[in-house]
Amino acid sequence: MASLNEPGSEPTPVIAIVAAMHEELSAVLAQMPDERRTRIAGRDFWVGHLQGQPVVAVLSRIGKVAAAITATVLLERFGVRAIVFTGVAGGLAPGVKVGDMVVATRLLQHDLDASPIFPKYEVPLSGHARFATDTAISDALAAASVELLRDPAALLGHQVVEDFNLRAPRLHRGLIVSGDRFVSTAAESDALRRALPDALAVEMEGAAVAQVCHDYGVPFAAVRTISDRADDDAHRDFTRFVSVVASRYSVALVERWLATLP
Ligand code: ADE
Repeated sequence: MASLNEPGSEPTPVIAIVAAMHEELSAVLAQMPDERRTRIAGRDFWVGHLQGQPVVAVLSRIGKVAAAITATVLLERFGVRAIVFTGVAGGLAPGVKVGDMVVATRLLQHDLDASPIFPKYEVPLSGHARFATDTAISDALAAASVELLRDPAALLGHQVVEDFNLRAPRLHRGLIVSGDRFVSTAAESDALRRALPDALAVEMEGAAVAQVCHDYGVPFAAVRTISDRADDDAHRDFTRFVSVVASRYSVALVERWLATLP
């Protein structure tokens, strides 16, 4: 197991910070003074400290399988005590707009359907469709998000706030749905809204990591910045939004949360 400790000492359980996109991970790594790289399953796991807390940061890559592999390595090889996923998502519910943040209370795979053998969305033989996140970590992330969103210009500068029209961004808490599709048509996001009216946002990894963490009994939390409305405009400005807005939100949020830990 890779650890931050001297040989022979008990390993300190680390917290895993997982990002889906390169820009977000590099923003986190820039704040880790002592990171060391361990390469497993074609991924770079960066072990070090953030805000004085032992962490391992990794790029999951995109999609549910890639995310599940990453989570499994974190649990099996690094013995992490919690996994926090940060990244971007498409807004689904009315009022969940670009620049808002969503802290998940539950996650579901919107493209999983083994009916009529099992109920639609249920992970076969698990009895679950919706996987709950850890309440304490999610509460702390939500508190940090509210603080951050009170003054986005303090973090991003006024020009970025103007450019992306980030006026009065809000924090939402509730269901995030995941699937192996970038939702980029109004028809598809309408269909998701009809099928899952309480879904706040859609992305491509979170529910898979939630399932893995559930099976291992390890706390999981997810926080996403809304980069698009999962409609015909979803791809527009996406890359620039991730590097200019979401990556800075993610790292500021994770740092604020870690700073509150004992
Ligand atoms: N992540 C960010 N936006 C997304 C979208 N529209 N669909 C799926 N994943 C996303």
